[in-house]
Amino acid sequence: SKQHEIAVIGGDGVGPEVTEAALAVLEATGAPFNFTHYQAGDGTLEATGVALPQETLDGAMKSEAVLFGAAGACAAQVILRLRAELKAWANLRPSKAYQGVPCLRPETDMMIVRENSEGMYFGGEDEPEPGKATATRIITDHASYRIARCAFEFAIQAGYGKVTAVHKVNVLKKTDTVFLEACRRAAKEFPQVAYEEALVDSVAMRMVLKPEDFQVIVTTNLFGDILSDLAAGLIGGLGMCPSANLGDGPALFEPVHGTAPDIAGQGKANPTAAILCAAMLLRHLGYTDKADAVEAAVAACLAQGQTTGDLGGPLGTMGMAQAVIERLGE
Ligand code: IPM
Ligand code: MN
Repeated sequence: SKQHEIAVIGGDGVGPEVTEAALAVLEATGAPFNFTHYQAGDGTLEATGVALPQETLDGAMKSEAVLFGAAGACAAQVILRLRAELKAWANLRPSKAYQGVPCLRPETDMMIVRENSEGMYFGGEDEPEPGKATATRIITDHASYRIARCAFEFAIQAGYGKVTAVHKVNVLKKTDTVFLEACRRAAKEFPQVAYEEALVDSVAMRMVLKPEDFQVIVTTNLFGDILSDLAAGLIGGLGMCPSANLGDGPALFEPVHGTAPDIAGQGKANPTAAILCAAMLLRHLGYTDKADAVEAAVAACLAQGQTTGDLGGPLGTMGMAQAVIERLGE
């Protein structure tokens, strides 16, 4: 059968370790993957003078999917460039509480669909005079409509009944009117899914107090960045959260967490987010049963305390990968 080309970018800090754990799980599923490793990040910047070498970019572009670990101080340069070059305009960030993992809000089960190609991230900044700086927020109907449709399509596919469009239209009157009008147009095409709109500040509070109010959230780039960390905080931290960057090019999968330099190289980093990224990758390439199996195996490990030390378990990074692999057939 056809081999899927997967570009692997471990990056800095714990990135390579958690990525190795995810690769071990992917190999154990038996899906036909061919992995090629590429360099990026602070280490690469030091060694070669560039954080994201052309070779890595080319390798990512010609792959079917990219598995990314973490990048250090140059993360913005590396990950934002990758998202842009791969035309990955949708950033899907699930937050689901797992049994056995200490967390603030066990009721949490939501997907944040973050617009990935515009907003505050790509409008540019300026400093017209010393002590005065500006940032431009670009919101287009085209990108808003496409991300809104993506949120509804995901809701239907994953069995969620409601989409909440998150905005700040009382202040950002022009930009968020464009965003909301596009969301409303998309909502009309999906009458089987409930649709509501909510202000971002109030959503932040409601997510903490009553996360079960939210199923699929669709929002602009910066709000999605902030709310996805908030959602991670509800379920036990960034170590639990995978993400998928999807669009018109190869898909890019990355844990939401960073490089954790304090524990890097010790083989004890929690690989849960990276392994859940592997599950998202499997699902994206059509291996639904294998994706389900990986997610179930991760859930079983977490429920049985077969986890890394940060979650109170006895295992190292590869030990947890092994424990997941042992449960794949169950
Ligand atoms: C994330 C990160 C990035 C972002 C940074 C590193 C540029 O916070 O993936 O959420 O802001 O998107
Ligand atoms: Mn972030």
